[in-house]
Amino acid sequence: MGDAVLGAFVVYSRLNPYLVSLHMVLSLSMVVLAATLYHHSKYLYGPGARADRRDPWFSLLARLLWIPFVVLVVTGTATTGSGPHAGNTSGQLVARRLPFALSSAAWVHSVMAVLFIGLVTGLLAAIWRSDAPTPLKLGVRRLVLISLVQAAIGLTQYLTHLPAWLVELHIAGATSLAIGVTQFNLRQVARDREPGTRRAPAVTTPLVTA
Ligand code: HEM
Repeated sequence: MGDAVLGAFVVYSRLNPYLVSLHMVLSLSMVVLAATLYHHSKYLYGPGARADRRDPWFSLLARLLWIPFVVLVVTGTATTGSGPHAGNTSGQLVARRLPFALSSAAWVHSVMAVLFIGLVTGLLAAIWRSDAPTPLKLGVRRLVLISLVQAAIGLTQYLTHLPAWLVELHIAGATSLAIGVTQFNLRQVARDREPGTRRAPAVTTPLVTA
């Protein structure tokens, strides 16, 4: 609801770039909440449910991963707010831009991306050699792969003067990473599967005819 109200302010402020950035951050937060809701619907929570915390170091790292990720997203929105997508087709309203040079914003954003990729790659090296369960290992491997593809898209869009369709792919990549970081955090605690969610065995009751 907050995002919807903010959306109205975005329109009334004629696409104020600070509000547009906040709109993007809130929308990604909704993706995080949706991924959490999905996780809660699959596993057993509440009284009596098993909740075994796995390696405390990986749990801490999983939480800390949010810091560079949020900084990465915020610097990304600052890059968009400094960029040319402000309504540059004839007949469109041209929105105000952030007071940064696009190259500087993109530079800060890409340095943050390199730090994030370094962190998840280091995490992968550590977790791969540990006895962590396979879903955690695969989860970090997925984070590394998506962030590498995301970085390649980001670099290509910068070098090709930001074609709009690549920006959309870049947002899809940021969304997948938000889901990946959420899942990695939630899977730090082993939980029981919700009873009844597995497919029941087929019942072969013979037909009784009168
Ligand atoms: C690897 C992790 C990365 C993530 C999670 C990420 C995330 C984001 C996000 C959330 C935005 C804002 C989108 C919007 O507000 O519409 C953005 C914009 C942008 N990113 Fe990244 N990014 C990453 C890497 C990179 C890299 C390595 C570059 C290379 C320079 C890059 C270049 C850009 C550019 C140029 C924009 C502005 C696009 C526009 O004008 O709309 N990104 N990024």
